[in-house]
Amino acid sequence: MPHPLIIDTDPGVDDALALVLALRSPEVDLRAVTVPFGNVGLDRTFANARRVLALAGRPDVPVAAGAARPLVYPQEEWAPEWHGADGLGQRSAEFPDPIDPDPRSAVELMADVLRGADEPATIATIGPLTNVALLLAVHPELTARIGRIVTMGGSLGGGNTRQGRAEFNVYADPEAAHRVLTQPDVPVTLVPLDITMRCLAGGGWVEELTASGPRGATLARMLALYRAAFRERHGTDSVALHDPLAVLEAILPGTLRTTPLPLGVRCDLGPDRGTTVAHPDPGGHGPDVHVALDGDTGSAAAEMLRRLCTLG
Ligand code: RIB
Ligand code: CA
Repeated sequence: MPHPLIIDTDPGVDDALALVLALRSPEVDLRAVTVPFGNVGLDRTFANARRVLALAGRPDVPVAAGAARPLVYPQEEWAPEWHGADGLGQRSAEFPDPIDPDPRSAVELMADVLRGADEPATIATIGPLTNVALLLAVHPELTARIGRIVTMGGSLGGGNTRQGRAEFNVYADPEAAHRVLTQPDVPVTLVPLDITMRCLAGGGWVEELTASGPRGATLARMLALYRAAFRERHGTDSVALHDPLAVLEAILPGTLRTTPLPLGVRCDLGPDRGTTVAHPDPGGHGPDVHVALDGDTGSAAAEMLRRLCTLG
């Protein structure tokens, strides 16, 4: 029986790959997609998520909009240099028109899915954590219906935001990230930059996706800007599969090897705002976070490609 999965996402080109990966994985049943602001504004992340589902031929999957801004302070960074101003590598016009939106809010769609699932669902977050923080605040009675939260975000060894110290998803809403990482009710697996920056797709990977069929080719073309930005910033012709790696771990638990750590997020307004740190109050937080710091990222990238190529 496929496991119920909810993905919260800010498409975003690696988000788009992660959504298709979930849809092409028989182990999971993608029951809902919820969308916050993030790489680009909510108007675009919301339309992009629905474009990707249209490309995948899955208008049956409900997509609901959530937070348009962080919980406390205004968003400081977007990521058009990586994802294009449209959020899909400036290729959104090559995607089908978006599927119809679900009329519920992200929080209410997630709540309805959790209530209706025949087993506790997995929530995979691959953008800012605002929607999931709100879900936990509005519906504490549903935490038992969440089996696991798998989060792409954070970093123990240096970030990727403009000032370089924090990771984008956590920096976008540090208060929301701290809430999710330190809550005592739902086990959290964190997939940080420390491992996602080792999960790279090179030219051959992209070319194989291109050759897999017209829809795979659309996804591959979407990666061109991201690949050029990665080459310019990191000097290698590849793309980091941040979000797909987290979603692969959600689909195949145990893909990555984790270390339990008492993590929190710096929420002050200083230069370290948004950095993931050892929890300042080791005795006063929830269970440790399962931090994915090791795994065969080469095999993971190959498995992602195999599944993405089934889109055709
Ligand atoms: O730091 C990587 C994360 O930021 C990924 O989720 C990517 O989509 C961007 O949102
Ligand atoms: Ca993302």
